[in-house]
Amino acid sequence: MCGIVGYIGHRPCINIIFDGLKKLEYRGYDSAGIAVLHQGEILVSKESGKIDNLKPSIAKLPQDARVGIGHTRWATHGLPTKENAHPHEAEHLTLIHNGIIENYKELKQELLNKGIKFRSETDTEVVAHLVAEELKVTPKPIAALQNVIKRLEGAFSLAFIVDRIPDEIFVAKQGSPLVVGLGQGETFFGSDITAFVNFTQKAVFLQDGDIAQISAEGLKLWDKNGNTLPTKITHVQWSPGSADKQGFKHYMLKEIHEQPRVVSATTQAFVKGNSLDLAALGLEKIDFKKIKTLHIVACGTAYYAGMTAKYFIEPLLGISVNVELASEFRYRDPFLMPDGQTMVMAISQSGETADTLACVKHAKDKGCQIFSICNVNYSSIVRESDSALMMLAGPEIGVASTKAFTSQVLCAYLWTLGVAQKLGRISQDELSSIITELKTLPLYLDQALNAEEYIVDLASKLYAYPNFLFIGRGMSSIIALEGALKLKEISYIHAEGYAAGELKHGPIALVDKQIPIVAILPHDHYFEKTLSNVEEICAREGQVYGLGDEKDARLKEICVQVIPCPQMKNPVFQAILSTVGVQFLAYHIAVKRGTDVDQPRNLAKSVTVE
Ligand code: AGP
Repeated sequence: MCGIVGYIGHRPCINIIFDGLKKLEYRGYDSAGIAVLHQGEILVSKESGKIDNLKPSIAKLPQDARVGIGHTRWATHGLPTKENAHPHEAEHLTLIHNGIIENYKELKQELLNKGIKFRSETDTEVVAHLVAEELKVTPKPIAALQNVIKRLEGAFSLAFIVDRIPDEIFVAKQGSPLVVGLGQGETFFGSDITAFVNFTQKAVFLQDGDIAQISAEGLKLWDKNGNTLPTKITHVQWSPGSADKQGFKHYMLKEIHEQPRVVSATTQAFVKGNSLDLAALGLEKIDFKKIKTLHIVACGTAYYAGMTAKYFIEPLLGISVNVELASEFRYRDPFLMPDGQTMVMAISQSGETADTLACVKHAKDKGCQIFSICNVNYSSIVRESDSALMMLAGPEIGVASTKAFTSQVLCAYLWTLGVAQKLGRISQDELSSIITELKTLPLYLDQALNAEEYIVDLASKLYAYPNFLFIGRGMSSIIALEGALKLKEISYIHAEGYAAGELKHGPIALVDKQIPIVAILPHDHYFEKTLSNVEEICAREGQVYGLGDEKDARLKEICVQVIPCPQMKNPVFQAILSTVGVQFLAYHIAVKRGTDVDQPRNLAKSVTVE
């Protein structure tokens, strides 16, 4: 996944494009570049590494240039080197691209046979040369682009500038996101609205197959067959400035601490008195009476939110719930009942994850009802859904998902309660009792946050271990998976999450003094069972750190240390409280190890490629 940005208008473009790339840095940050068109010449600056590495070289570009394109990369083809960084140059043009061209090798061979010389290993450079060659026989760029696109297989949002055409930028969208911002005498584009929303809130979201000619006056749209299309303008809402660190060392730490506020905002948005606001939960457009099966599709942490949701959806709604990794679901030809009898729920913070989006499109084609829980309005998954629940978590900048997980679990729970309320599967007394407890959750979250200093100390003892195990039962087994993922992705330590009851079926062979084991042990109905699993571990010299009630004498006796976690009756709320402890543990271990917590190696915030 990469980020693309562009500008054409009355202002100097370099800083606008640079700042746009910084806003999209979460999409990839292993190399970056900017190209400007100035007095009939295209000048390019690109570097490997972070976007800030561009500063010295873009200072040498003509600062009065008013047309330009920019790109920040997450490598898919070729190492993150300067040569492989975008923009890519061909004869008379320069091009940027987000996505994967699956048939690039055969296209490249065709160009090599024509004597074209390549500077990079990328699929993108192949597209640049294809367009340049096509322009020699089809001088009109839009027609040339249409001819090239017909030959591309895969996903792409691309943009290019041509040295002999000073006042236009050409773009195309297929699979990867692309949105155009319409200003006064200036036009922007980007992978999402954050690239330009501080300049204009008038947006045109391109659809798959769209091709556009962008000028300072706006854009002209065609479909891939050359038919002109109307431009549908969306006025987007955005509160700039909510995405800075506010004094925290990292965005991730800020976002862990934001969780009480996120829960309060969610409660206020979806709870009205002692019942749920069914319209706000997006329940009005879904025909629940038809639904026989529910598939939840997601990736990574969002997948764990879905797995947590299964524990409360099934008993509350009385339907079977299949939770599946989107990357598996999309290729196994799942059994999907037509006419809305199957619902597919997509959970995605970014709303742009390619695997999850592909599942939504596939399920839609099969006649399923589509519901999504997302954090970015107007995102591709939201726009493909019949109905969507917006998470209200605010921008999540840290690549490791924290407040988004909490928000996803809570939103899924409230949505399920809303459906139960709508179908009469929950009494008003039960609902009132849950809502009363929900309103105390922010306070308990504040208490969970108080464990941070304790965890800082624990992290300083554990950060050098090469392997970790996280265990739990019920929803705690999913929090164990999430805790392992957090630790892996930001500290680069190998960690596994396991259902505690599974240890004796193999993983207990891993147990010795060299592998710290975090046992998630709330006072729920699994407590005794999990405690006996901990005893089995201790009998083999295992080092267990219990995450639970620090006043529990048995926990203190059996564990090396108890990581304090407040206790709530409702297992869903308890799962959210337990998550704070594993988030802090991963964060502070990573800080001790000196990794790049907000932008860990090899990762990106939104995985918009397969
Ligand atoms: C979680 O910490 C990771 N950043 C990653 O697993 C993420 O949850 C996954 O890529 C899904 O992203 P999405 O919620 O934007 O779809």
